[in-house]
Amino acid sequence: MTTAAPCDLILFGTLGDLARRKLLPALYQLDRAGLLHDASRIIGVARDGLSVSEYRQRVADSLGKFITKEPLDEAVVERFCARLSYCGIDLAELEAYAALTDHVDSSSRTVISYFATPPALFPVICDGLASIGLTEAPARVVLEKPLGHDLASSKRINQHVGRYFDESQIYRIDHYLGKETVLNLLALRFANSLFSSHWDHTAIDSVQITAAEQVGVEGRWSYYDDAGQLRDMVQNHLLQVLSLIAMEPPTRLDAENIREEKLKVLKSLRPITVSNVRDDTVRGQYTAGFVADQKVPGYLQEEGARSRSATETFVALKVHIDNWRWSGVPFYLRTGKRMPEKRTEVVISFKPQPHNIFYETLSELPANKLIIRLQPDEGVEIQMLNKVPGLGKQMQLQTTKLDLSFFETFEHHRIADAYERLLLEAIEGNQYLFVHREEVEHAWRFIDGVLAAWHNSAELPKNYQAGTWGPVAAVNLLAQDGRQWDES
Ligand code: BG6
Repeated sequence: MTTAAPCDLILFGTLGDLARRKLLPALYQLDRAGLLHDASRIIGVARDGLSVSEYRQRVADSLGKFITKEPLDEAVVERFCARLSYCGIDLAELEAYAALTDHVDSSSRTVISYFATPPALFPVICDGLASIGLTEAPARVVLEKPLGHDLASSKRINQHVGRYFDESQIYRIDHYLGKETVLNLLALRFANSLFSSHWDHTAIDSVQITAAEQVGVEGRWSYYDDAGQLRDMVQNHLLQVLSLIAMEPPTRLDAENIREEKLKVLKSLRPITVSNVRDDTVRGQYTAGFVADQKVPGYLQEEGARSRSATETFVALKVHIDNWRWSGVPFYLRTGKRMPEKRTEVVISFKPQPHNIFYETLSELPANKLIIRLQPDEGVEIQMLNKVPGLGKQMQLQTTKLDLSFFETFEHHRIADAYERLLLEAIEGNQYLFVHREEVEHAWRFIDGVLAAWHNSAELPKNYQAGTWGPVAAVNLLAQDGRQWDES
């Protein structure tokens, strides 16, 4: 059962895709697990004029549609829907916010405002909340991405929100930080001396982070075309994963210490500029092809597409972290749409043995690899050499896997969706899985550098066929260093 005090959670953008697919199902799951206080309430806010019973019906329909892994518990649905109220207002109209006061009681509860709306509305929602006194501590605000389009716009958003909310009241979402397996990176690194004592340039040769998706732009071509894969995936999710992999051990598992260490990593990223952009980056755009045996259109033939665009749907980067621990260790990042499979993983390649006593049977000893599968087949794998059993005079060696599958090992545990964890932490007032303003801004500083360098190097994204691992140049990015992407 929850220990958190009751709250009033205002869900701005409650009829949108994110709220219907993710947030409301996540809140239902928290309710089902007994993690919502009996007296906590949820106030949906959107422009449509709906009665509360219409809204409850819509939410119940969304739960039915998007909770597919287990049957709905009708008693919980009923209890959950009884918490819901609805306030139909035009978010752009400051005066309209007064209507919210009938739904919220800030004198006896913590008010948490969740902005699941386009960021262009964040400033006016802040103004509106301030006009009815709902920004004063202990009120909290949860902000969805994208937090800006570049450093300047991100600063504008942060400044505006910062006018009303102190940093300790602001919860910036990066949903990767709520994933079980991303959290497990902390356990893996800081609870196991086997890894922590080998976590630097003396033992590690290179690191790969891959986030591949089979989906294309999913009906949001205009939004995506304005963003591109670098802003949509690297600025936030990949750089957050990289920070967790690379950061120094925090003193404690709390927001201040973890965010401080992640920030130091982001500050140490070597800038990508015109001088290294050709060698260290690859961008691609998909053409028609086959994904999971289905024919799929090219990026420029997707619904709503323009006939020309230089937006990248694939990015590969070689990133250096200029600090003592990671000196000389490249981090290769790769992410793309319409890849052959959905796969998010981190591959740590260790240095090879300095001397090979098995040269007669194996001229080069493959190095050990630690593969952390973040999704969908969550698990941890170690690749190592073993002797193949047999009486032959010479030792035959073979790469074998120590494979821990989360699904098998924790078969009786439900893997919660990232939003369940994040909503729970926001309700309980724990910020350690949320991104600090400075992290967002330093990540943008790095990304702006890449974008500017791409802009100045007149090169366009290279084509790759949907259903492949990106342009050939991405293979060369590693081949030029004598390495290759892990596709095992
Ligand atoms: C979102 C991006 O932040 O993350 C999407 O905007 C992307 O384009 C999604 O598809 C991927 O999330 P996940 O959890 O499926 O890896």
